Amino acid sequence: MVTPENFQDGIDIVDDSVVPEDNENIIYLGIDLGTSKIKICTNDGIMFSEHSLIAHSDGDFSQIGDGDEIFFGKSIFERTDLERKWPVRDLIKDEDAVGPGCLKILLEHCIQAAGVSADPGQMYAMISVPSVASASYKRTVLEAARHLFRGVMIANGLFCVAYGSQKFEGSLIIDMGTSKTDICRIKSNIPEEEDYLSISVAGEDVDKELVDLLAEKYDGLKATPELANGWKESYGFVGDVDEEYKVALPLSDSSQEMIITEELRLACESIIPDIVSGIIKMVSGAEPHFREALRNNICLCGGGSKIRNVRSFIENELKGFGGGRVFLIDDPEFAGAYGACRLAEKMPGEFWERLNNCDNLKTI
Ligand SMILES: Nc1ncnc2c1ncn2[C@@H]1O[C@H](COP(=O)(O)OP(=O)(O)OP(=O)(O)O)[C@@H](O)[C@H]1O
Ligand SMILES: [Mg+2]
Repeated sequence: MVTPENFQDGIDIVDDSVVPEDNENIIYLGIDLGTSKIKICTNDGIMFSEHSLIAHSDGDFSQIGDGDEIFFGKSIFERTDLERKWPVRDLIKDEDAVGPGCLKILLEHCIQAAGVSADPGQMYAMISVPSVASASYKRTVLEAARHLFRGVMIANGLFCVAYGSQKFEGSLIIDMGTSKTDICRIKSNIPEEEDYLSISVAGEDVDKELVDLLAEKYDGLKATPELANGWKESYGFVGDVDEEYKVALPLSDSSQEMIITEELRLACESIIPDIVSGIIKMVSGAEPHFREALRNNICLCGGGSKIRNVRSFIENELKGFGGGRVFLIDDPEFAGAYGACRLAEKMPGEFWERLNNCDNLKTI
């Protein structure tokens, strides 16, 4: 069974310290660095999320000086004069594209905006990263975070989800994010490399598909993926619903109230076949004695799992392939950060004490 103790072999760590004597005031943070949103959970109950978005009036983050104005989160969407930077996304795509400085500024802002008031010397953070993250990605994250906390560790995001939702044996965790959908087989021990699968369809593909479908139907459509994202988050569904969804569609010289129910359904359903194929691949690739348990314990998390009817829709799709049972994890967007926080809390104190530096990287 997976425990914090045997999990220690599979995490990457950095720390400059020993455990403070004043153990009672320690704050443990779980941080999920998502490509569109950073999520933070703390052991004293904070749950915070912010767009992984940053802007600087000069656009050049290597030249930030004292007193420069930096913008964060949603406020940036209202500004057309600012160059936007999505550091987590950039870092995943191209490891050299983002230095730790930009990520550090964003993390610092999020910790403050979350209302975490502890001194850095009293904070331990477990940061969850994608299964595809390279050693270089992890090193940049650790470098960005190292001065913000007394100790930092990095753990696989899906493992954090499994840990936080107590899915220790025989389950398939599926994280439907923005840029990718990650799947992990949880068997009876720490997942190996072959237990992870990352599929390149997720929320942003739904947004683009919705724009494309509407553009086919309405000449001169001016809708953007950002606008479509808002419609999807408000009304997105798969399968059948009894309602109709009407939105103000921006056209060349006007905006018109139009029903977009069918386009919404098709766009949301467009990512499901790849996810179902991923499930089948992961189940059939497991040892025969695990297959039943895996197919009957499929757990969805990530913002994409909030698409209405997605649980029953995937279950229906699986009927043609031997069936399966699908469950939704509570607070799905926070599942990674919550699990990371639980792991941080449960790490034995002496383990935090033994942390050394970021050259001591190991890959999960
Ligand atoms: N109610 C909703 N209905 C449908 N989709 C939603 C809903 N709420 C959020 N989403 C979508 O979930 C995605 C964000 O989820 P999440 O925060 O898990 O992603 P992320 O962690 O930033 O991305 P990634 O894991 O790919 O790095 C976005 O595409 C968002 O539009
Ligand atoms: Mg995510």
